Amino acid sequence: MRIGIDRMAFATTNEYVDLVELAKERGVDPNKFTIGIGQDQQAVVPPTQDIVTLGAAAAQKLLTPDLAKNISTVIVATESGIDNSKASAIYIKRLLGLNDFTRTVEMKEACYSATAGMQFAKGLVALNPQETVLVIAADIARYGLNTPGEVTQGAGAVAMLISSNPHLLSLEDTTVAYSQDIMDFWRPLYATEALVDGKYSTNVYIDFFLRTFNRYQQLTGRGLEDFVALTFHMPFTKMGKKGLEGLLGDRNDETANHLRDELTASQLFSRKVGNLYTGSLYLSLMSLLQNSKDLTAGSRIGLFSYGSGAEGEFYTGILEEGYQKYMNDVAQELANRQQVSVAQYEKMFNSQLGMNDKDIEFDDANDHSTFILKGQKNHQRI
Ligand code: HMG
Repeated sequence: MRIGIDRMAFATTNEYVDLVELAKERGVDPNKFTIGIGQDQQAVVPPTQDIVTLGAAAAQKLLTPDLAKNISTVIVATESGIDNSKASAIYIKRLLGLNDFTRTVEMKEACYSATAGMQFAKGLVALNPQETVLVIAADIARYGLNTPGEVTQGAGAVAMLISSNPHLLSLEDTTVAYSQDIMDFWRPLYATEALVDGKYSTNVYIDFFLRTFNRYQQLTGRGLEDFVALTFHMPFTKMGKKGLEGLLGDRNDETANHLRDELTASQLFSRKVGNLYTGSLYLSLMSLLQNSKDLTAGSRIGLFSYGSGAEGEFYTGILEEGYQKYMNDVAQELANRQQVSVAQYEKMFNSQLGMNDKDIEFDDANDHSTFILKGQKNHQRI
């Protein structure tokens, strides 16, 4: 039985900041941001958006009443949780109007957990092929104003339906996960911004990619020629390039150059949104599927998922006939956003609910999103 991604949708905030403007404001050569880091724009998060509103908006784009009634389980993967106990999946299930006889849970392991969610969903569908699992990866990547990580922030959500006989990508069985207890990036309970050992984190990422890919090769006997494209977790787009070049070395043949071209296609959307944490690999996949000219049904795509702390997984999927029809148009979504100035971005950055325990009502006059965080009352989000 084929099991995999039946359809996918992406949602982000309506605002973005231009990174050339941010570079000038921070006294940095803009080429460092656009070439050295590989980012052009970054999603800006108004206080009226959080992972629940973003996750629900992404899922709403792919649901029809018929699809909704087959959902047995909602898994939300995030490291930007809004509560230490209650799962964001329960709020999202209500906002989507799903049946109360639905299992709901939130999962965490930095940027990696959506991949665990996908593998667990595959197991559930293997047991009960008539069921569909909704996996949502939703995050807000925050490092702090004027820090080295600032240029690698971002926000958004990717929602995926995992089912039997999928229309988009069938998951293959061999998959390699690898984990080690290390401190490359983390966020203590008292912090609203991540702490990071930036250079170390990039080295661990490459190391985990090479380890999982090499083991995958040993287990399957497959080589680079067996892939039409490799996609990567994309905390900033240069990171995907570092991962691929770490594998290709000085190879300059047709296979290597083709993989380089496909990587460029997979980077285009992340360049304009920034790091989505859990959703980042899946936005790279959507970017590849919507921008590559060379994909056909039956193509094998490799996916490298990485989450700090740290855990990596390399797995593969086979593209289905007519896959183009089962995603929302991300370029259009991005074209509809409004640019904000660096001053407006900084104001929004500092107006988040964060650790605030007071009643608050946000001005949502300018937020035309499907779902809106109105504020907080009696310690409950509205
Ligand atoms: P930095 O110290 O600001 O930057 O930190 P740099 O000095 O290393 O420069 C970056 C690149 O720009 C370099 O290229 C420079 O040469 C180049 P590289 O050597 O890397 O190829 N550069 C220029 N290029 C053109 N023109 C110029 C110019 N100047 C410099 N004028 C860093 C960069 C990424 C470390 C920082 O932004 C950071 O700490 N980011 C957050 C951590 C991160 O994203 N790590 C990625 C791996 S870990 C991961 O993926 C997990 C994560 O998503 C979290 C999770 O799992 O939850 C982060």
